Amino acid sequence: MSQPEGSAPIETPSGLGRREFCACAFALAAAAAVTACSGGGGTSSVAPPPPPPPPPSSPVTTTETKTSMLSQPSGTVRDYTTTASGTCPLVLGAAQGYYLVRDLSGIYAFNASCLHLGGRISPTQTGFGCPCHGSQYDLNGTVTVGPAPVGSTLQHYEVSESTPGGVLVIDPAKPVSATTRLT
Ligand code: FES
Repeated sequence: MSQPEGSAPIETPSGLGRREFCACAFALAAAAAVTACSGGGGTSSVAPPPPPPPPPSSPVTTTETKTSMLSQPSGTVRDYTTTASGTCPLVLGAAQGYYLVRDLSGIYAFNASCLHLGGRISPTQTGFGCPCHGSQYDLNGTVTVGPAPVGSTLQHYEVSESTPGGVLVIDPAKPVSATTRLT
């Protein structure tokens, strides 16, 4: 319906005239757009998301048996990383291979690709370290020093015997919890 000639202006619920209401709404929308574009007006310190997990690769047949690994002291690490993608420069999501580890509870294996940007971690005196930006991991693959997210743990994978008493196989297609052990 049209407004009768000479009648009073339409009032909004807030009591503003239509022209004032529209100007005000426009100003609010513009302010919201600026805020959204500027990320809230502050400098963002949000850490970059972790790299995508490497694509599952074929099972890795090790040269160890359960007996040989369990005869080793806690802290024993066997290297089944790959040299194909190197350590640095980084290749996001690259498969860096695996470490087979023996601790007090048993045998396990995890991904060697750093949770920061995917560098290949290496054994240290206390666990593992990434040479790219200095992230540190404990023996179970949990980040203790960033820039990788502290408290996050590298993906563990199933370790099983190829045959009873045979060599151990790491299966990247079978992720397991970080507390799983072969005993
Ligand atoms: S890629 Fe490992 S610390 Fe950056």
